[in-house]
Amino acid sequence: MSTIPQPPKREGGSPITKRLTPRDIQARKNADPIVCITAHSAPMAGFMDSHVDLLLVGDSLGMMVYGLDTTVGVTLDIMIAHGKAVVRGSAKACVIVDLPFGSYQASPVDAFKAAARVMSETGCAGVKLEGGAVMAPTVEYLVARGIPVMGHIGLTPQSINVLGGFRVQGKSGAEAKALVADAKLLADAGAFSIVVEGTVEPVAREITKACSVPTIGIGASVGCDGQVIVAEDILGLYSAFMPKFAKRYALLGEEVSKVVATYAADVRARRFPAPENTYGAAPAKPAKKSKKR
Ligand code: KIV
Repeated sequence: MSTIPQPPKREGGSPITKRLTPRDIQARKNADPIVCITAHSAPMAGFMDSHVDLLLVGDSLGMMVYGLDTTVGVTLDIMIAHGKAVVRGSAKACVIVDLPFGSYQASPVDAFKAAARVMSETGCAGVKLEGGAVMAPTVEYLVARGIPVMGHIGLTPQSINVLGGFRVQGKSGAEAKALVADAKLLADAGAFSIVVEGTVEPVAREITKACSVPTIGIGASVGCDGQVIVAEDILGLYSAFMPKFAKRYALLGEEVSKVVATYAADVRARRFPAPENTYGAAPAKPAKKSKKR
């Protein structure tokens, strides 16, 4: 039996979807913290849906699912496949899908084509794209054409080859000023919220104060309007790298290893499948009586 919560059904069978919308998220500026987590599959989305406000189909799936070193190799087709799964597996959270590297940077028209495919093929509520001032005209173009956009500034992993590594951003006065300006420009362009990644607390607080839409922090302190985290980091399902800002709430990777070791031992010892896991199992042979001396 499925353990994934299913959306409630209307008479006649069509689901009632009372999902949170980008507008609901935008209205949470300076209110209760917004909770966001990444999801890449329908079952995981189902487990997380009722606990969070936003499910982000992040392109970090390049590392978490596909074994890539960075997000740069993630394609639009990959994002669409996972976006569909997450929308199917959830009922309440607002689902946002990342536009991958190369699908939106060249022009607003490219961005619209990519975002329209993501929206129409997945059923998600909006897209996220990386970049500050340089992407503001694109954000404006998309929003004017019906596409809710979440911004992403600070440490922007798709620009890793320019940033020269996963480095904390906004440490100098000039960098901090530029980040605050980026956030304001994206908000003015119509972004409904902005992910702020990898910056120091005073800068995160300054951005949050200056920006009219909610900031969602990752490695950006508690001074943001909400938080986003990569699910595998808090579940202990990714061990190649553990960022300082993440907290391990569980060690599920170790559990998986233990469970599979037990299964393997059972198969090798012919303990699995047992009669209760077998169709038409042969009746157990009566135990041989031992001869009395
Ligand atoms: O791809 C992702 O998971 C993200 C979050 C880190 C914000 O963009």
